[in-house]
Amino acid sequence: MSLDAVLSRIDADLDAATDRLKDLLRIPSISTDPAFKADCDRAADWLVADLQSMGIEASKRATPGHPMVVGHIDGPGPHVLFYGHYDVQPVDPLELWDRDPFDPQVEDTPKGRVIRGRGSSDDKGQLMTFLEACRAYKEETGTLPCRITFLFEGEEESGSPSLVPFLKDNAEELRADIALICDTGLFDSRVPAITTMLRGLLGEELTITGPSKDLHSGMYGGPAINPIRVLSRIIAGLHDAEGRVTVPGFYDGVPELSPEVAEQWRRLGFDEAAFLGDVGLTTPAGEHGRSALEMIWSRPTCEVNGISGGYTGDGFKTVLPSKARAKISFRLVGQQDPHVIRENFRAYVKEQLPPDCSVEFHDHGASSASTMPTDHPAFEAARHAMTDEWPDPAAYIGSGGSIPIAGHFQDILGMDSMLIGFGKDDDQIHSPNEKYDLESFHKGTRSWARILEALKVT
Ligand code: BES
Ligand code: ZN
Repeated sequence: MSLDAVLSRIDADLDAATDRLKDLLRIPSISTDPAFKADCDRAADWLVADLQSMGIEASKRATPGHPMVVGHIDGPGPHVLFYGHYDVQPVDPLELWDRDPFDPQVEDTPKGRVIRGRGSSDDKGQLMTFLEACRAYKEETGTLPCRITFLFEGEEESGSPSLVPFLKDNAEELRADIALICDTGLFDSRVPAITTMLRGLLGEELTITGPSKDLHSGMYGGPAINPIRVLSRIIAGLHDAEGRVTVPGFYDGVPELSPEVAEQWRRLGFDEAAFLGDVGLTTPAGEHGRSALEMIWSRPTCEVNGISGGYTGDGFKTVLPSKARAKISFRLVGQQDPHVIRENFRAYVKEQLPPDCSVEFHDHGASSASTMPTDHPAFEAARHAMTDEWPDPAAYIGSGGSIPIAGHFQDILGMDSMLIGFGKDDDQIHSPNEKYDLESFHKGTRSWARILEALKVT
């Protein structure tokens, strides 16, 4: 049977596939930093060439930001759109890396072999699992099981500014029966997963100004309001004693989990202590009365991602700063409306400003939560196909992260998405020493071959 031959070919080709991934990982395609613009372009070229090498029609498409890569190939099964992103997060703090983030290597660790490097898990390693599955399938059988459109983005890690216009301008070309998005994780090393709930994301930056200039804190401290004090008080008040977010109306549209889903999640046996223990913690700090899994997958949150103001360099300086700044993100669920929450948050901050202080807000994007339609036949087909590859059956899970494109595919293209990926919680995405397990890469590739074969007959 041809699937077995495809799987054997994937096994035999693993070293070469790893070398190809390392090639892509050597390109520092950091989308948020203009210094790496040419590298983003090079990563797009690399993907175009790789698709073409498999006989897939592919091109680089300019956008006002980093280019998109689009590819097409015909096949007998349904039309699927595969999406991944080739851009990566910045590497700082560089001194916390044990090696050059863009000189990827395979390493043996106590937990198994890993490919270490920026983007290995988020998302180059993941997108290559799909391309490697296509390569093996095509080489073995001469064709692909489904008609596939490929879409690779280079701005995902910087808020996807070009994405919505690109989807609108190219809707006819990109619309497929279903989208496959490879930017999520396994439940654990035994249990593969289809992510069925994504949280939305709202980003706000606020700058509070007090005095018109930086001052000597001895000469002015006391009579002069310190904007760091104001900002800290506002931030400290964003959560109440129960861990709930205090922005008015924040919980409007937050649903309770259905008993069925709650039961499914309970059966997963999530090890809260191990999850926290892995990052040096012992005690969940979120909403009282909620499990850690709920806090990550089905409850909305508010986190301060950065705060600055005054003198933060080496040594000491007795300054009373003019400005203090914070970057704050909200993860959203259910029907929470990001635009209403933004307005409510801004009003809430303004209300708390003392005399002589002003605030400016900077919008860092907004996306709503989305829920995937697990009654679509592709879901059970893919779940069974993955179950054949991994030790334990595939699970439907939620996600702590946000992937706004799933919502855009639905709103702009009227297309459902199936989120499948092979990352692990300890991959250290967005952090120093990011890695992807070689097992994720290998079994991920084999999983896609099985999924495509299963989708062929849906
Ligand atoms: N791959 C992640 C999303 C993710 C993380 C999914 C963990 C599942 C588990 C994605 O690249 C990402 O980091 N997204 C950002 C949002 C984006 C709009 C900047 C996020 O979730 O913070
Ligand atoms: Zn990602």
